Amino acid sequence: MNWMMKNNSLLAMIFVMTVLIELASAVQAQDASASKPGIRNPCLICHGKKDFKKVKEDGSVKKLYVNEEELAQSMHAEKRCIDCHSDVTLLPHAKKPNRVTCSQCHYKGNPVGAPQTDRYNQYSASVHGKEALAGNPKAPLCQDCHGSHSILKPDNKKSAIYKKNVARTCGHCHLEEYAAYRYSIHGKTLNKGVMESATCTDCHGEHNILAVKDPSSEVFASKIPETCSHCHQNKKIMDKFGVKVQQVITYEESFHGIANKFGNKAVATCASCHGAHDILPASDHNSTISKKNLAKTCGKCHPGANENFTKGTIHIAPKEKEAGIVYYISTAFKYLTISVMIGLIAHILLDLSHKARTRKKGFHKKTPAD
Ligand code: HEC
Ligand code: HEC
Ligand code: HEC
Ligand code: HEC
Ligand code: HEC
Ligand code: HEC
Ligand code: HEC
Ligand code: HEC
Ligand code: HEC
Repeated sequence: MNWMMKNNSLLAMIFVMTVLIELASAVQAQDASASKPGIRNPCLICHGKKDFKKVKEDGSVKKLYVNEEELAQSMHAEKRCIDCHSDVTLLPHAKKPNRVTCSQCHYKGNPVGAPQTDRYNQYSASVHGKEALAGNPKAPLCQDCHGSHSILKPDNKKSAIYKKNVARTCGHCHLEEYAAYRYSIHGKTLNKGVMESATCTDCHGEHNILAVKDPSSEVFASKIPETCSHCHQNKKIMDKFGVKVQQVITYEESFHGIANKFGNKAVATCASCHGAHDILPASDHNSTISKKNLAKTCGKCHPGANENFTKGTIHIAPKEKEAGIVYYISTAFKYLTISVMIGLIAHILLDLSHKARTRKKGFHKKTPAD
């Protein structure tokens, strides 16, 4: 058996050598040869075999088969193997080629027709780009989010970065967040096909994802209200789901909101009360804001908080009757302010008209101050 395998690969090698001698510069001329019938792409002599694979040192199996069809349907259908695997210059190649550097084409100002966007630079400045540069082998390169031979546009349903697929793509590495997100209101709603719901990239960004502790991060404490507001202050989106849009404003006017704006990191942001990846409506028993759990949620920061403490009206604008005493005080203040203003204006008008009348009658005398 062992001998058979060795013998097989020896035969393959001899076959390859023969092909290579015939196509001396096959690799260089691969673009034309790949699409012309009759002459095969030399890489596929080995990589075109469905069962081509290797057994790694740890015993795991790595498939080495490349499905030409997949590549042909991708955004890179026109690309040759060696456009991406540019370190494969000799066949058979001696060792395992390096990982592909997408930025050899994808940079702003590229002449090859790849989209011109600032996103590539954003990646270098992101937590992922920085970690990758520092040598963290777990940090994603472009291909870890986009795929390799089946790269598609974001609006293609099969794309790894199609909105509905993003969470799974990030979830390969961020398992815990993904597991929680799937059962959140945002995850469940998106899964039903409601594209207005939030996925990872709506809260974190895409190529510009920063560490949570970075003050410029979309999810840094003082920026969270703004990040949620992209949707939760949008009446057009929220009306569809019967969710009120006042939550952001009422938060900003609350004690927590004002202190947060002034940089107080101890006060509650949206995520302190609602969670981040496990957000659920108040009506759900598992929600951090359900009747059952609310005292515990406030209690994280207000030791001893009981049901009474939470009875306050958290998202209710003073403008609304539901606000109870706050509504009446605020309404009383409103009318008091209005009547004071009316009185003041009336006083000024009376004064002016009095002055005008006295001026007409010619009683006005020039004083040195004039
Ligand atoms: C003679 C057969 C043969 C030919 C022809 C061949 N390869 Fe390979 N290729 C291999 C083998 C064997 C490996 C496994 C190498 C290893 O891991 O030690 C491999 C590995 C690779 C890998 C890395 C896979 C991994 O582990 O991530 C890439 C990429 C690759 N080949 C690209 C190419 C390209 C591009 C061409 C054509 C320009 C090509 N190969 C032609 C035999 C071949
Ligand atoms: C758009 C760029 C691109 C093109 C074109 C491309 N590859 Fe790849 N290929 C990749 C990336 C990315 C990977 C994943 C490994 C890595 O990160 O470099 C990969 C992986 C591989 C592997 C390892 C097995 C696997 O699927 O992970 C082989 C073998 C390979 N490529 C061969 C080829 C061959 C043969 C062709 C031409 C038919 C080709 N590639 C065309 C980008 C490309
Ligand atoms: C040899 C140059 C080259 C390399 C290397 C390359 N690309 Fe591309 N890429 C292109 C070109 C050209 C297009 C535009 C194709 C078109 O519009 O038909 C493109 C298109 C794309 C698109 C679709 C963009 C859109 O919305 O239109 C994505 C995503 C993409 N590439 C990602 C990658 C990733 C990830 C890698 C690395 C694995 C990579 N590319 C490697 C040249 C390249
Ligand atoms: C953390 C995951 C992630 C990484 C890493 C990543 N991307 Fe993306 N990329 C995305 C997502 C998600 C989108 C879709 C954005 C959208 O829906 O508009 C995207 C969109 C794109 C697009 C198409 C949109 C456009 O601007 O036309 C291109 C091209 C692209 N990425 C290239 C790259 C390149 C090149 C790299 C490496 C320098 C890279 N990406 C790294 C997640 C990632
Ligand atoms: C509704 C907005 C939102 C969505 C959707 C979201 N996140 Fe987060 N994420 C946050 C916030 C806010 C934080 C900051 C943590 C906090 O304040 O509790 C965070 C923190 C993180 C962290 C840092 C570690 C941690 O858990 O605190 C990672 C990693 C992360 N998110 C990944 C993801 C991934 C992967 C997805 C998609 C599966 C995702 N996030 C979806 C808002 C979101
Ligand atoms: C290939 C694995 C991989 C993929 C895919 C990936 N990440 Fe990451 N991510 C990492 C690593 C590694 C770090 C840096 C170390 C850490 O903090 O966990 C990181 C860091 C982060 C952080 C900062 C965490 C913190 O503690 O401040 C966030 C947020 C994040 N990723 C979100 C995402 C999102 C959203 C996606 C999908 C669009 C994604 N990641 C895709 C590996 C990955
Ligand atoms: C990309 C848009 C988007 C972003 C960003 C977003 N949400 Fe949502 N959110 C929605 C949509 C849409 C719904 C309604 C889903 C439904 O009811 O099925 C929702 C529902 C909710 C609900 C449940 C409301 C209810 O009564 O059903 C809460 C609580 C919530 N979001 C909190 C947050 C918080 C906190 C943030 C920021 C950390 C946030 N959301 C960010 C779109 C978003
Ligand atoms: C101090 C805790 C706290 C903070 C901070 C907070 N919320 Fe709430 N939120 C609640 C509670 C409790 C409820 C349910 C009762 C209510 O509506 O007053 C709620 C209700 C909601 C609802 C409706 C959910 C439902 O099921 O009815 C949304 C949407 C929401 N909040 C979004 C936000 C956003 C966005 C922020 C930040 C701008 C935020 N919240 C800040 C505690 C908080
Ligand atoms: C992330 C921590 C955190 C969470 C969660 C939190 N708060 Fe607070 N809250 C604070 C801090 C810090 C202050 C500042 C005053 C203080 O230290 O008591 C404050 C102040 C307040 C105040 C005004 C000042 C006062 O003491 O009278 C009220 C009212 C309040 N919180 C209610 C709540 C309610 C109700 C909840 C739960 C729905 C809640 N908070 C959840 C951190 C939090």
